[in-house]
Amino acid sequence: MQGPQIEPLVEDDRERGTFRVHRSTFTDPAILERERSEIFDRCWLYAGHESELRNPGDYITRKVGGRPLLLTRDANGQRRAFLNSCTHRGNAVCRERSGNARVFTCFYHAWSFNLEGSLVGLPGEDAYSAAFDKKQMGLKPVPRFESYRGMMFVCFDPDIIDLPTYLGDAREYIDAMLDYGGDEVEIVPGAQAYSMRANWKLLVENSIDAYHVMSTHQRYFRQFLPDIGMDPNQWIGPGSMSATRGIALNNGHALIESPLLPTPLTGSAKLELEGIRATLDEKFGKERASRIADYSRNIFIYPNLILISMWRTVRTFYPVSPDFIEIDAWALLPENESQELRERRFENFISFLGPAGFGTPDDVSGLEGCQRAFASQKEVGWSDISRGMGRAPLASDELQMRAFWRRWQAMMLGADGPTDCSDGSETAVATTATQ
Ligand code: FES
Ligand code: FE
Repeated sequence: MQGPQIEPLVEDDRERGTFRVHRSTFTDPAILERERSEIFDRCWLYAGHESELRNPGDYITRKVGGRPLLLTRDANGQRRAFLNSCTHRGNAVCRERSGNARVFTCFYHAWSFNLEGSLVGLPGEDAYSAAFDKKQMGLKPVPRFESYRGMMFVCFDPDIIDLPTYLGDAREYIDAMLDYGGDEVEIVPGAQAYSMRANWKLLVENSIDAYHVMSTHQRYFRQFLPDIGMDPNQWIGPGSMSATRGIALNNGHALIESPLLPTPLTGSAKLELEGIRATLDEKFGKERASRIADYSRNIFIYPNLILISMWRTVRTFYPVSPDFIEIDAWALLPENESQELRERRFENFISFLGPAGFGTPDDVSGLEGCQRAFASQKEVGWSDISRGMGRAPLASDELQMRAFWRRWQAMMLGADGPTDCSDGSETAVATTATQ
């Protein structure tokens, strides 16, 4: 394989307990080029949720894996995913973010495509020769398109393993997040779309990093939480981390998990939450209901999806350049809860994760600061990610990041098979790799 030497960029010594990553992985355009072909073109990528295509004719457009996509629900109710690029001379056939339509008419020369992607009309059709085959000129479907419990994924590699196998052990944790919504969850219309002058892998690390929360997000813990009647010491007091876990799963997926604090809600919203809990107890039994409702988890699905259970958030991102990413985040909420509870969830979500909340601007500042300082990599060349090696990993350790980087290195080297993403048998929670 031509291009950058990957092997020396991740130094992983499980015996000694050292792990470091060279900072050129965050800045080198040749690395990003390889990431596009070896990672983003070969992994399942989150594209949307089935609740966004509820009725025949519904459609959404978005960028996934660097490509413009058009997702539709056709007249028979089947959901489809196409490249949103006209087969005539390339323009986007749909320029809206979402809506309901029977046909999509390209703005440029007015070719029209139906919900199944077929070319159904073009001005001046008689100008084309007999060799022009209209049937071959439909919108191009993405090579692979599958859903897991309503979450729609695409893959640009036609030979990828099926989605459930790819998700592997992560399914248990995704299920726990989705089961909280009872039978149905939905994406609330609207998204938070923002960008950051930082490498995409910094956001992977940050999204499963409990080590930074006390230092980076002091205002939230020391000021905001007491203001809304919560005791921050339950989260950040001495010993609070000991009940947490960092978990490396298969295929580079990973998560952090911590017990959830008692809710500060009162009145009817509190009663409604208690009702949800009673329903979960009944449906799943007390033990599983506790696994679902009593823990906060940040679940990382390799390579670029984060599910944040506390804020019921789905977040994905993609690199535009080595030092710039675009991020999209949606709220995934139970369908049938009251307006009041929904508003309280949104307040909670926006107060921390909103682009102007207490959390996200801090993180943007942290990550952009790292990226700027990588200019000194000739002198300060390595980032240390060894925290917690050799012990049962806590959420404030860095096993979950090492899991990502181990899979990253393997895929960048062209691996087809599984990768052991754990620190070693004594500290691993789950190491089975299925790809
Ligand atoms: Fe779409 Fe010409 S590019 S009709
Ligand atoms: Fe943060």
